[in-house]
Amino acid sequence: MAKFRKANSSKPKILVTSALPYANGHVHCGHLVEYIQTDIFVRFLRLIGEDVIYVCADDTHGAPIEIKAAELGIKPEQLIADVYKEHVQDFNNFLISFDNYYTTNSPENKHYSDLIFERLKEKGFIYTKEIEVTYCENCKRTLPDRYVKGKCPKCNAPDQYGDVCESCNAAYKTIDLIEPYCAICKNKPIRKTSKHYFFKLSKFSKKLQSWLNKNKNLQQEIKNFVFNWIKNGLEDWNISRDGPYFGFRIPGEEDKYYYVWLDAPIGYIASTDNYCKKHGLRTEDYWNSKNSKIYHFIGKDIIYFHFLFWPAMLIGSDFQLPRHIPVHGFLTVNGEKMSKSRGTFFTAREFLQKYEPEHLRFYYAGLLNSKMSDIDLNFEDFGKKINNELAANIGNFCYRALNFLNKNFYGEVKEIDNNKKLTNEIKKLAKNIEKNYYALNFNEAVKGILHISSLGNKYFQDNEPWKLINKDRENAHKILGLSANIVKIISILIQPILPQFSSKLQEQLNVQNLKWKDINFELKNHKIGKEQILIRKMEEKEEKQKFPLDLKVAKILDVKDHPNADKLYILDIDLGAEKRQLVAGIKGCYPADELKGKKIIVVSNLKPAKLRGVESNGMLLAGDDGTGPGLLTANESSPGDKVYFEGFDNATEQVTYEEFAKINMSVKNSKVHFENRELKTDKEMVKVEKTKDGGKVR
Ligand code: 2FM
Ligand code: ZN
Repeated sequence: MAKFRKANSSKPKILVTSALPYANGHVHCGHLVEYIQTDIFVRFLRLIGEDVIYVCADDTHGAPIEIKAAELGIKPEQLIADVYKEHVQDFNNFLISFDNYYTTNSPENKHYSDLIFERLKEKGFIYTKEIEVTYCENCKRTLPDRYVKGKCPKCNAPDQYGDVCESCNAAYKTIDLIEPYCAICKNKPIRKTSKHYFFKLSKFSKKLQSWLNKNKNLQQEIKNFVFNWIKNGLEDWNISRDGPYFGFRIPGEEDKYYYVWLDAPIGYIASTDNYCKKHGLRTEDYWNSKNSKIYHFIGKDIIYFHFLFWPAMLIGSDFQLPRHIPVHGFLTVNGEKMSKSRGTFFTAREFLQKYEPEHLRFYYAGLLNSKMSDIDLNFEDFGKKINNELAANIGNFCYRALNFLNKNFYGEVKEIDNNKKLTNEIKKLAKNIEKNYYALNFNEAVKGILHISSLGNKYFQDNEPWKLINKDRENAHKILGLSANIVKIISILIQPILPQFSSKLQEQLNVQNLKWKDINFELKNHKIGKEQILIRKMEEKEEKQKFPLDLKVAKILDVKDHPNADKLYILDIDLGAEKRQLVAGIKGCYPADELKGKKIIVVSNLKPAKLRGVESNGMLLAGDDGTGPGLLTANESSPGDKVYFEGFDNATEQVTYEEFAKINMSVKNSKVHFENRELKTDKEMVKVEKTKDGGKVR
């Protein structure tokens, strides 16, 4: 018999989760908003002495993972194992302190998925029904939403996915698409009927409503949405998928699997269970006890799952409901949706090539609050906050105080200046910071900490210990004593946000692992350690050089002969956001047929001109070694993608042909060179056709 640690009866058990990231992609800065938010909260709870665990896992099932593995020619198990390692490393790098990071492809998850499924079935909450699905006979698979495309049944927009139209936002079923095609092989799919399992979500309307009404911790703005959904009638939920699928096979079925969204949240329980087994704890103390408190941190895109499906499943299978479901907004970068082509999409790894993980933690903390509003990673603001707030305010105060104490008083804190006004003000601020951490208003907590360190800086500055030391050494020493105590308090208050900075600061103070209860002015008769600068100013944003051209990838749509010139073509091109016409002198060298569909490089900011009576809006680039033009191409990129040289920002204003002619780009190894850089897009290096080394680009 396993021995269980005695439950700590005085404190409720707190379980905190973040959403489980899919195992088919990298962790990026958008994900990190949630993990950093959750981690700050969990570290705060630990600091105030709560009995808390933080669990998460990779979300490993579903069609995309099976399809991606097939594309890579590996087993899904291999794919998820590789991604798992990468995710764990990324989370470690950003100091996310999971107590357990597991996987949904685990025996525990299989156990709980079957258990919940069977319980729901026994109670009559699950039934089967034949439905029509979209099937590709060529790929031999039922096509999930994202793998069948066609025209939107509402607005007729082409190339829309099988679930929602990105043009008019209509939601529909894959079988409703007009002229559907398989996104994998482009063939026309057929309709087929297939038996599926449905969860009677509709039966839970009353219970969900009453839970939402009673639960005062949930954000009201979200409850309002959810009440509306319930009012409009909940539809039963298809919880099965046909094979081939990577997931848990449904008991008694040959080739049907639980839909990934059934077993994903059950992964919260499975990861808890896995943790409990390793630590002599009991899973039921978290999931079947009225005394536990469950927190799910999620993003606003998965509200439906966490406020309807998941609680209904829990109610129907006798598990504890979450008490808190803090929902955060999306991340924008420099005010816009993150985008690879604009260079504003950063994976966790890419971010670390340039910046410190704690800088991001500090910046996000300064923006995060208990609302669902989106937050913006603005790089200019980011640099300012790190330099002015973290380095010049907090870092500077801590270093200055400890440095002075070490230089002049052998690092000894003896007596403390009895400045009641200041110490009371700091105590009051600390109380407020505590409340704000609790309420997830980290932006206010950061303000409070900055306020305290400003008070510290001002106190140090006003008292001029560097002068006082010559007149009244004892008093100067006391002032340093109080300053050192303020540094200590800051090291605790900031710990949830900057755990590494905090622990290094405490090392300099020659103390360790301080808790919230150590927020006091009792550091006396104590010798501190060696001080060190912990935060350096970020280099001013690497000033990019200006490049006079705005180069973009364009796809040639159509080619016509110029009516008045033998050597000229008129090209219709697609620039992503717009279509244009341009005139190009490549006729003798490229037959029209060969040009159609090619992805070329275009100077999009060239002043429009008339060439032999025909308007040309832009110019294509070609290499020229004297034997005729060779086009610049980027066939892996998309129309409109930015084309650039590393370290240079493309121009936004127009250029004239004369200005263009002065730019000296040359060809080497079929690449375009300019000031020792090679022309590229985010996806590839630009290629030059036909042209020999030394050729020019015109
Ligand atoms: O949206 C997502 O990224 C999902 N993988 C989140 C799952 S959270 C939980 F319910 F498992
Ligand atoms: Zn197909």
